[in-house]
Amino acid sequence: MPIASNDRSYASDDPRRTDAAGAGSASAAGATGEHGARRESRVAERVQAVPSSGIRRFFDIIASMDHVISLGVGEPDFVTPWPISEAGIRAIERGHTHYTSNLGLLELREAIASDLGRRYGVEWDPIEELLITTGVSEGLDLAARAIINPGDEVIVADPSYAAHAPAILLAGGAPVAVETSAAQGFALEPDRVEAAITNRSRALLLGYPSNPTGAVLDRPTLEALSEIAQRHDLLVISDEIYDRLVYGGAVHTPIASLPGMKERTITLGGFSKSHAMTGWRVAWAAAPADLFGGMLKIHQYAMMSAPTVAQHAALEAVRAGEEYVVSMREEYDRRRQLMWRGFNELGLSCAEPRGAFYAFPSVAQTGYDDETFAEQLLLREQVAVVPGSAFGAAGAGHVRACYATSYEEIEEALERIRRFLHSAPMAK
Ligand SMILES: Cc1ncc(COP(=O)(O)O)c(C=O)c1O
Repeated sequence: MPIASNDRSYASDDPRRTDAAGAGSASAAGATGEHGARRESRVAERVQAVPSSGIRRFFDIIASMDHVISLGVGEPDFVTPWPISEAGIRAIERGHTHYTSNLGLLELREAIASDLGRRYGVEWDPIEELLITTGVSEGLDLAARAIINPGDEVIVADPSYAAHAPAILLAGGAPVAVETSAAQGFALEPDRVEAAITNRSRALLLGYPSNPTGAVLDRPTLEALSEIAQRHDLLVISDEIYDRLVYGGAVHTPIASLPGMKERTITLGGFSKSHAMTGWRVAWAAAPADLFGGMLKIHQYAMMSAPTVAQHAALEAVRAGEEYVVSMREEYDRRRQLMWRGFNELGLSCAEPRGAFYAFPSVAQTGYDDETFAEQLLLREQVAVVPGSAFGAAGAGHVRACYATSYEEIEEALERIRRFLHSAPMAK
C-alpha cells in the first residue's frame, strides 16, 4: 500500500519498505558508514521509506499467463493517431535529434499556453511559467522536490494514484492521507482536508479526474478546497492528466482557474492519456514564476530537456489533435457505460466513474478481500484487475478496472467475472 490512512509519515525502518531496498539491505549487511556507524542498508533511507508497489506482484503473474484479459494497466489501447506519429517521424527526417531549450520548444510552449488559455481560461506565460517535462511523472517529481522541505506534510486523497505518495516521500516530505469513500463518490471532502492540516502542512496534492476511482471534483468542492488552501497558505499540486476524459455531463474545473489559485498552484498535464502517447514521454507543468524557477533548476540538471522528437509530435497533437481526443473519448464513454452497468448488474456495486478511464467497484459483497479477489479472478478466469488497496488503505474492498481496452474484451471480461462469481466458493 502506498499509504495508510492515519500514517503521518513512513519511518526509515518501516517494514513496508521496497523490495529493492530490502535486497540492498541484505547485500550490505554489516557495511560501516563514513563515521564508523553501522549501516543497515546501502540504499538511502528516503528510498527505503517508499513502500513496494502493490501492483507489481499481479503484473508478474500476468506476464507468466496466456489469454489474460487485462483491465489492469492504465493506458490507452489506441495507438497514437497517425498524423501525430508522422510529425515525430518528420522531426527525425529533418534532423531534429538534438536537445531543445531546457524549457522545451518555444513553439510547443506557446501552443500549449494558448490552448490552456482557451480551455482553462488561465493565461500562463510560455517563457516564465510553462515547462515541457518528460511525462507528468517528471512534473510530479519536480513539483514535489521544488516545494517540500524535510518533514513537510502534503495532503493526498486515499485512495490515489500509486505514484503520488511516493513522490512526496522521495522529496523528503510526509504524505498525509485523507480518506475518501464510495458513499461520497470518492470525492475529497473539504472538512476532512481541513481536519488533516497541521503546522507542518505545506501543500495539497490533487489528482482529479481520479486514477483509480474515476471521481471528478465539482466546482463547489474545488471552491471550498481553494478557500482552505488560501486560509492555511497551502500550495497545491494538481495532476490533471485526465482533464480531457470526463463523461456524462461531468465538467473538469482546473483549480488554477479559481480566484487566487493560479499564484499557489502547480498544474500538471500531458499527452499520454488524452492523445494515446504514453510511450512518447512528453507533458507540461505550469506554475507561478518562483516555483517554476525551482522546478526548472531540477529539470535542467536532472533531465536537460524532454525528448525532442516527442515534443514535435506533441506540437502536432496540440494543433490538430482535437478530433482524435473527441473520438477516443466517445469510445471510452461507451466502454465506461458497459463496464459500470455490468459491475452493478453482477452485484459488484460501483459508483459512476465520471472521469479518467477506471471503474472502482466494491468486491466486499463477495466476502473476500480485494487482493484475494483479484488473485483468484486472475488465476481462475484470466481477468486482471488491480486490488484497490494498492492505491491506499481506503481502497481496500474495491478493485480498479481500466476500460481503456476494447468493448468486446470488456464484454468477455464481464462474462468471465459472472462465471467466477457463480462458481464454487473461493478458497480463503
Ligand atoms: C494520475 C496520473 N498521473 C500521472 C501519470 C503518468 O503520466 P505520464 O505518462 O505523463 O508520465 C499517470 C499514469 O498512469 C496517472 O494515472
